[in-house]
Amino acid sequence: MEFSTIVENRHSIKEYDSTVTISDAQLKSLFDTVVLSPSAFNLQHWTFVVARDPTLKQELQAAALGQPQVGSCSAVVMVCGRLDAHTGVREVFQGAPEEVVAKIDGIAQHIYANSEQMQRDEAIRGATLAAMSLMYAATDQGLESGGMIGYDPAAVSSLLEIPDNYIPVMMVVLGTSNGEAAPRSSRRPLDEVVKLEKFSGTGLA
Ligand SMILES: Cc1cc2nc3c(=O)[nH]c(=O)nc-3n(C[C@H](O)[C@H](O)[C@H](O)COP(=O)(O)O)c2cc1C
Repeated sequence: MEFSTIVENRHSIKEYDSTVTISDAQLKSLFDTVVLSPSAFNLQHWTFVVARDPTLKQELQAAALGQPQVGSCSAVVMVCGRLDAHTGVREVFQGAPEEVVAKIDGIAQHIYANSEQMQRDEAIRGATLAAMSLMYAATDQGLESGGMIGYDPAAVSSLLEIPDNYIPVMMVVLGTSNGEAAPRSSRRPLDEVVKLEKFSGTGLA
């Protein structure tokens, strides 16, 4: 599918056919694409917890303000972001010359080691880019999706046994729509959201 078609076809879908399942092979096909997402220092902050068990999905729905798509979709994917990913630089760059690894590791420690805010920001950035890739990959492979933040992070972390060094950044529901897609929701005009040269500059006409 053309990228522009994927972007146009992706909608946040809230009603799913609960009889449709998603196989390990489909998940593998999706995630083979998703893991090509970019991340700072290639630290790949993401871990995806995929819930397909009906009981677990019901529990997640309860932790997600009762939103029905969580219970009726084929799979709930919790995109988790790693807070201490900077401690894994040497693992990611193994095989590279020591002077290169030492330099990259030094820069990463300088940026993240003493800043919980930067660690959290990067966990969220990395996981969010992966979540976007997941939603586009799903569209490309004939699935519907929806990104969600309406859930209790502590309850979801407990249900999915997410360790303390990860945060549940975004829930993505995947499945087959059980109805008509709503018309494309409105977008702010380009001249308001694209500014030339400075934030205060002219909007793109
Ligand atoms: C980070 C994020 C959180 C969202 N949380 C929810 C949610 O909890 N429940 C929901 O129904 N939709 C949620 N949405 C969907 C948005 O409402 C939707 O993306 C927006 O209205 C634009 O519509 P579209 O995705 O169909 O283009 C979320 C989207 C994003 C990106």
